[in-house]
Amino acid sequence: MTDLGTNPGVAVVTGASSGIGAAFADRLARRGHDLLLVARRGDRLSTLAAQLQAETGVGVETLVADLGRADDLARLEARIADIPVSFLVNNAGVGALGPTSSVPAGAQEALIRINVVALTRLSIAAVARFSAAGRGTLINIASVMALMPSAGGGAYSGSKAYVLNFTRSLRLELGGSGIGVHVVLPGPVRTEFFSSQGLSDSVFPDSAYVSAEALADAALAGAALGEEVITPSLASADHWRDLEAARGAYMRDVMSGEIAARYRPG
Ligand SMILES: NC(=O)c1ccc[n+]([C@@H]2O[C@H](COP(=O)([O-])OP(=O)(O)OC[C@H]3O[C@@H](n4cnc5c(N)ncnc54)[C@H](OP(=O)(O)O)[C@@H]3O)[C@@H](O)[C@H]2O)c1
Repeated sequence: MTDLGTNPGVAVVTGASSGIGAAFADRLARRGHDLLLVARRGDRLSTLAAQLQAETGVGVETLVADLGRADDLARLEARIADIPVSFLVNNAGVGALGPTSSVPAGAQEALIRINVVALTRLSIAAVARFSAAGRGTLINIASVMALMPSAGGGAYSGSKAYVLNFTRSLRLELGGSGIGVHVVLPGPVRTEFFSSQGLSDSVFPDSAYVSAEALADAALAGAALGEEVITPSLASADHWRDLEAARGAYMRDVMSGEIAARYRPG
């Protein structure tokens, strides 16, 4: 492994072997972060590591890990505890797309282990490092599907709703600590996400896609602005404000202490 410097600290990127994760790795290296890149495909990680080292001069460590496996996850947690991590992008994720009754239960459980359990444990591990150092940034990659039920993506949409609420809750807890906590809701991004699951990109119109590089740049810009929920392709921020206002009204209403009239007997 290359010697990891301490300033501006090490950025850990999960799912760095392709798509959005590889784009984050590129951008963070160009900002001077040493990197710890994680995924299962070690050959891809090594190629990217060599390229980024040559182009930017930062130190890049790779860790081949299946984040659905408890032992691999524990190895990564231990590594995070050992090095001066200042940035974590929890990006690794899978879709297990298809009708809930057709997709094998094991594949849906594996999705929960990767999209939910690993993301949670790694967030906890990183925040422990950030708290000790008094600085750090956590970016968790959810999806616009966090806000939408999805026939053919039940476990996926559920897992991303978890990422959204988990990350927002963590941010509430860490308010004023100097630690940045952000969640990104990408719409369609041109990556291997669909093809790796045997699906075609034409599930969405061509015009709906952004590139992984544009997505990573927008997410980093949103984090620099201090945004809590970053939706890179949402043209009108008013739509998010409207959603939040509706959520506030809903919450005030459910605190009435009374059962709504339509549910009362008789
Ligand atoms: N593409 C989109 O339209 C879109 C939209 C919204 C949100 N997202 C989210 O963006 C994130 C990145 O996806 P992407 O679009 O960049 O797709 P991608 O190109 O398929 O990348 C997925 C990454 O996750 C890694 N990964 C998958 N299973 C893993 C495991 N068990 N252990 C460790 N790493 C694993 C993959 O690496 P290995 O296969 O080498 O392990 C790969 O690097 C995901 O969380 C996805 O849900 C994507």
